[in-house]
Amino acid sequence: MNILKKTAFLLFTLCVVSCTTTKKEMNKSNSYANDTHSYAKPNEAVAKHLLLDVEVDFDKEVIKGTAAYSIESTNASEIVFDAKNLKIHQTTVDGKEVAFSLGTNDPILGQSLTIPITKNAKKVAISYETTDKTEALQFLNPQQTADKAFPFLLTQGQAILTRTWIPIQDSPQVRLTYTAKVKVPKELMAIMSAENPKVKSENGQYSFEMRQPISPYLIALAVGDLVYKEISPRTGVYAEKSMIDKVHYEFADMEKMVNAAENLYGTYVWDQFDVVVLPPSFPFGGMENPRLTFATPTVVAGDRSLTSLIAHELAHSWSGNLVTNATWNDFWLNEGFTVYFEMRIMEALYGKEYANMLASIGRQDLAEQLESFHDKPEATHLKLDLKGKNPDDGMNSIAYDKGYLFLRTLEETVGRYKMDTFLKGYFNKHAFSTMTTEKFIKYLNTELLEKNKVSFNINDWVYNAGVPANAAKIVSDKFQKVEEAIENWKKGTLSDHELCAKDWNIQQKIHFIRNIPATISIEKFTTLDNACQFSSATNSYIAMVWFEQAINHNYHANNVDVHIENFLMTVGRRWYVSTLYRAFKRADKLEEAKRIYEKARPNYHSVTVNTIDDMLGVSY
Ligand code: BES
Ligand code: ZN
Repeated sequence: MNILKKTAFLLFTLCVVSCTTTKKEMNKSNSYANDTHSYAKPNEAVAKHLLLDVEVDFDKEVIKGTAAYSIESTNASEIVFDAKNLKIHQTTVDGKEVAFSLGTNDPILGQSLTIPITKNAKKVAISYETTDKTEALQFLNPQQTADKAFPFLLTQGQAILTRTWIPIQDSPQVRLTYTAKVKVPKELMAIMSAENPKVKSENGQYSFEMRQPISPYLIALAVGDLVYKEISPRTGVYAEKSMIDKVHYEFADMEKMVNAAENLYGTYVWDQFDVVVLPPSFPFGGMENPRLTFATPTVVAGDRSLTSLIAHELAHSWSGNLVTNATWNDFWLNEGFTVYFEMRIMEALYGKEYANMLASIGRQDLAEQLESFHDKPEATHLKLDLKGKNPDDGMNSIAYDKGYLFLRTLEETVGRYKMDTFLKGYFNKHAFSTMTTEKFIKYLNTELLEKNKVSFNINDWVYNAGVPANAAKIVSDKFQKVEEAIENWKKGTLSDHELCAKDWNIQQKIHFIRNIPATISIEKFTTLDNACQFSSATNSYIAMVWFEQAINHNYHANNVDVHIENFLMTVGRRWYVSTLYRAFKRADKLEEAKRIYEKARPNYHSVTVNTIDDMLGVSY
C-alpha cells in the first residue's frame, strides 16, 4: 500500500470509528428537549439517582442535609442543577470537595448551580439547607391541622418548586430514581412519593425508596401526626386520627378505581396507590405524587360526592407520571389526558350519566375560561409558549377542559374501541419517558389517523385559539332537568321549596347554583337561600359556588359574609379561594377582598399567595 492509500485507509477507519461514536453521542445528546424553565443541561451531564439525606427542623422551619446524585456525562466539564432560595454549603465530586458557582437569581427560575466535574465523575453531593423563602414547603402550626396537637409539613413540587427544597435538575424530562433518609421529631410520621411506612418509627428516622424513575416535580414529602388505614392490599389512606375513619369511608372505592383504570389502559405499575389527606391549606385539590396522592380535606364531603378527584389523580399514574409532559408548554398532555381518563374511570364505576355531568361542568368551566381570555387568544392554545413566564400561568382550565374536549371529540370520531386501543398502546410504548406535543401529534397521525384512514383537524385543536367547530357536544340528561327547573323557578311555576325538595345529587345542585341567572332579584335570592340553606352548606364545592353567587348578587343575609370569611380563613385550595377573590374583585369589592386576604394570607401556601397577590395587586 502506498503512503497515500495508507493515509486514506487510516482516515477512513478513524472516521468509521469516530463518526459512529459521534453519531451515537449525538443521538444521546439530543434526547432531551429544550426546557426554558430549567438551567440544567441534561444532554451534557445528567443525574440518574438521588440519595437524599435530610432532617426536618420544625423549630427553625428548615430542611437541611445532603442531596447526592449518581450522574452520567458525555465528556462534560460541569454539571448544572437548579436551585432557588437555598443555602448551598458544600459540593463534592466523588468524595472530594470542589468549588461550585451559583448563577444570578431569577425571580421565577432561581439560580443555576454549576459544579465542575471530570470525565469519569460518578457522584456529586450537595450539602444545603432551605430558607424562609422556600416556596415548596408549608410548615403548619398545630392550630392549622385537624387534630390541633402537632405541627405539620407538606411539600408541593409542581411545576418548578422542587428546586426550592432540593437542589436538582428540575426539568420534567430528567427522570430519576431516589432513596431518602428523613429525620423528623419522633412524635411525627414522614411519608413520601415512594415506598412508605404504615406505622410511626421509634426514633423519627425514616427510609424511603422510589425504584421507578420519576420527574423531579413528583418528589414529595409530608410530615405529621398521621395514621394509615388500608382499603385493599394495594390501596389505603393516611390522615390525622380524627379524620381517618371519615376519609376511609369517603375513598372506599379506591381499589375499584385502580381496577377500572387497569382494565382501560394497562397495568398499574407503581404497586401501591395511597392517598394522604392533608390540612385544608394544601393549595390543590389533589397532587398526583407517585404511590401517594396528596389531597385536600375539602373533598371529604361525607357522601362520596367529590371522589372524581381521586380518579383524576389516579389517572395521572399513566398520563403524567408514566408518560410525562417534556416541558411545561406541553402541560395539556398531562392534564387533558388525565381528565379524559378520569371521566372514563368515573363512567366505569358510576355510569355514563354521572361522567357526563362531570364533563358538562368542565364544559362550562371551559366556556368561562375562553371568555376570560377573549383578548388573549394565544392563551387558549393547547400547546403554550411559557418562555419567560411562570409555568403556573399556563395552568388553567384550557389544558384540562379543552384537552378533554379534544380527546372526547377524537373518541367520537374514531369510535371507542379504536380510541382505547390507541391510548393503551400510547401509554405502553412511551412508559417512563417524556412526550412533546409534536411527538404526540406524529404518533397520533401514524398510529391512529392514517392507520384508520381518518382525517382530523389536530393542528387546529392544538395550535389555534378557542374550540373548533367539530367539538363534541356534551349532553347530560340530569343537567337538562336542572335547566328546566331553573326556567320554571324563574317563571314562578316552581317554588323555592319545591326546588329544594328535588332529589338532586351534588353535581346537579352545583349546576343549579352556577346557573342562577344574574338578573334574579335579591328577594328571590333570599327566599331561595331561606328554603335551601345554601349559605351554611357543608359540601365545600356547593359552598364555594354559592358564595361566588352571593358575592355576585351582593347578598348578605343568613350570615353568608361570616361563612365566606371563615371559608377563606381555613381553606387554601387555590381554585376555590381564587374563585371567591375574583368574584369580589369583579363585583367592585376589592377592599373587602383585601381585608379578608390580609388576615388569611399567612394560612396559604406560596402558590396560592402568588396567585392572589397578583389578582388583588398587593404584596407584603
Ligand atoms: N397536577 C395537578 C395539580 C397541579 C397542577 C399542581 C399544576 C401544580 C401545577 C392535579 O392533578 C390537579 O389537576 N388537581 C386538580 C384536581 C382535579 C380534579 C382537576 C385541583 O387541584 O383542583
Ligand atoms: Zn391533574
